[in-house]
Order: sequence, then structure tokens, then C-alpha cells
Amino acid sequence: MGLVPLAFLQRIKRSDTMYNSKITGLGFYVPDHVVTNDDLSKLMDTSDEWIQERTGIRERRHVVGDSDTTTAMGVKAARIAIERAGIDKDEVDFIVFATLSPDYYFPGPGVLVQRDLGLRTVGALDVRNQCSGFVYGLSVADQYVKTGMYKNVLVIGSELHSRGLDRTTRGRGVSVIFGDGAGAAIVSREENPDKGILSTHLHSEGEHAEELSVIAPGMGKRWVTDILRDNDPDDISYYPYMNGQFVFKNAVVRFSEVILEGLKTNNLQPSDIDMLIPHQANLRISQFIQKKFGLSDDQVYNNIMQYGNTTAASIPIALTEAWEKGKIKKGDLVVLAAFGSGFTWGSAIIRW
Ligand code: ACO
Repeated sequence: MGLVPLAFLQRIKRSDTMYNSKITGLGFYVPDHVVTNDDLSKLMDTSDEWIQERTGIRERRHVVGDSDTTTAMGVKAARIAIERAGIDKDEVDFIVFATLSPDYYFPGPGVLVQRDLGLRTVGALDVRNQCSGFVYGLSVADQYVKTGMYKNVLVIGSELHSRGLDRTTRGRGVSVIFGDGAGAAIVSREENPDKGILSTHLHSEGEHAEELSVIAPGMGKRWVTDILRDNDPDDISYYPYMNGQFVFKNAVVRFSEVILEGLKTNNLQPSDIDMLIPHQANLRISQFIQKKFGLSDDQVYNNIMQYGNTTAASIPIALTEAWEKGKIKKGDLVVLAAFGSGFTWGSAIIRW
């Protein structure tokens, strides 16, 4: 028999020391400025009735001025999560930052959080999975903690949409939906194998990448210099595009699939769910899922009515709010599920 590679031995050793992971701290931050549907109807041809009927949204928060950047909101949410986890900031071993609206084209906001929170020179990873970004980030954190590589991982989802929306009638199909805000979680080592994050499930289907996208500025089709050169008032390539009905149809199917996949992996049934936190894309999507799984109003948490769709921030904001309101108790089965641009989708099954 030849020599056994060292990497193989290290892998065996690591699998002997597998841990579980759990969320030990949660926080969220939204800007103070409330924008109602009536406020938007002064800027574009829309109405409170149309927006509420189609999406459930009554109001959202928008950043005013330039003090609340995507990073700054993420930092505010992170400070709360770190404090609630009962750890010192020097105990954070890794940062995962999910957003589609970064402060800079590069570098990503992960390193800005490392700087602005004054953390040790820990690694910082930026996640580009839009509405599924927080679930993807949580999954990364979960794996690092379970293998024993890190003890405490900071996961942030933050979005500043308002600055990049077409707030005219031309952009009304998209701009009424999105809001600004941030949520954060600390994922920490847990010794009890039956507690914490039981599993995560991630998917993508790039065939539909352009159905919900912002294609410029990008090196693929249109860079900033192209936009400036053309100086075309009808250019909408740098505003979000969404094929709403197509996205809606895919969302309800993929939400259902990925929730069932998570439950099946853990030998659980829909009736075992104590709290479902769906990504807040549209209240009608949440209601469809609620009905499909036979869940009561108390078993699904929605706050899209107050905050709109905050993309990567929506799940951590909703999870934090549900927890703050005492709607999530020790031992509860909490399910997170997301679907969005990419297309990407995912779920996390958590024993609280
Ligand atoms: N106010 C008034 N009328 C409007 C508005 C508005 N804000 N927006 C669109 N309309 C009009 C349209 O022009 C259209 O008029 P027409 O029939 O005369 O052409 C009509 O309303 C219907 O438009 P649709 O786009 O077909 O409206 P729909 O019923 O599909 O609702 C919505 C739009 C709410 C966006 C819905 O499609 C949706 O929620 N889709 C899924 C969103 C989602 O899940 N996104 C994923 C996450 S986001 C992310 O990952 C970044």
C-alpha cells in the first residue's frame, strides 16, 4: 500500500470533530424615512390600491442623503447581532455580506464592514445571489462552523435600492416594490446535534438570468463609458428589469420545492413547521405558499407591508422582527426560504 495523502488524513480528522451551528444573535436596521404608496403616486402613475392589491405593500423605507450606505446599514444591523450573540467583536472569525446594491463596483462591502466595525483582519466574502443572498450566506457560514474552521461568522444582508430605481411611470412595475434596509446574524458553534441549522439547500437556473436583472454597468454588455457615450435619455439598461409574471410563476414553484426538499432531508412534514420566514417578494407569493402547506397566519411571518422587498435583507429583517416579537421560541422549527434573480433559490431548516 502506498503512502496515504496528508490531506486525506486531515479530512478524516476534521470529520471526527464536526459541530453543529446555530444563530446566536440577530439584528436589523431600516432608515427612518417612510415612503407610502401615496407618496409614490405623486411621482408616477400608480395608486395605493394597485400596489396593495398586487403586492401587499403599504410603505417602504428609503435612504435620504448619503450617510446610510449599504455597508453603513449592514454595520448597524451587525452591531446589534454581535451584542445579542453575547460575543466581543474580536470573536467574529469571518464575514459574509450579501447584496445586489454594493457601495462600490469593487471592492465589495465585506471588507468595508471589517474596517468600519474594527474587526481583526478576518476573511470577508461577498455574495451575489440577490433575494437568495442571505440563505446562500447562511449556508456558507453553516458549513464553516460545522467543520470547526470558524466559531462565529457574521452574515449580513443589506440593500440600498432607492438610489437605483426609475421612479417614473416607466419604472413603476419595479420601483414600487423595493425598499432599503439591512439584517444580520451571528452563526456560532453549537455542540448539540439536534439544535441549530439542520440543513441548507441551494439552487440556481441561469437560463433565466436576464428575466430579473440590471445588466449595466457591466463588462459583458454595457460599461459606464458606453452609457456616457450614448447619452441616451431612453437608456434603461442600468435600471432593474423584471419579467414580473414569469418571475412570479417560477417563484411559487421553486419556493414550494425547496421547502419540501429541506423538510424531506430531515424527515419532517409541513405540519412540523412552527415558523416559515419566506423572502418578502410579494405578499401574494407568501399567501400562496401558506395555503399550499396548510399553515396558519401565526406560522408565517410577513412584513413586506411595512418594508417592501429588501432583497438580501428581507429574510434577516423578518427573522429578527419575528424573534423580537416573541414569535420564535426555543425548540421551534423555523424554515427560511428564498427565490430571486439568477434565478436562484434556497431554504434553511433550523431547530431554534
Ligand atoms: N401601478 C399601476 N399599474 C402598474 C404598475 C404600478 N406600479 N406596475 C405595472 N402596472 C401595470 C402594467 O403596466 C400593466 O398594464 P397593462 O395591462 O395596461 O399593460 C398591468 O399593470 C399589469 O402589469 P404586470 O406586470 O403584468 O403586473 P403583475 O400582476 O404581474 O404584478 C408584480 C407585478 C407585482 C411585480 C408581480 O409580477 C410580482 O410580484 N412578481 C414577482 C416578484 C418577485 O418574486 N421577485 C423576486 C424577488 S426580487 C429579486 O430577486 C431582486
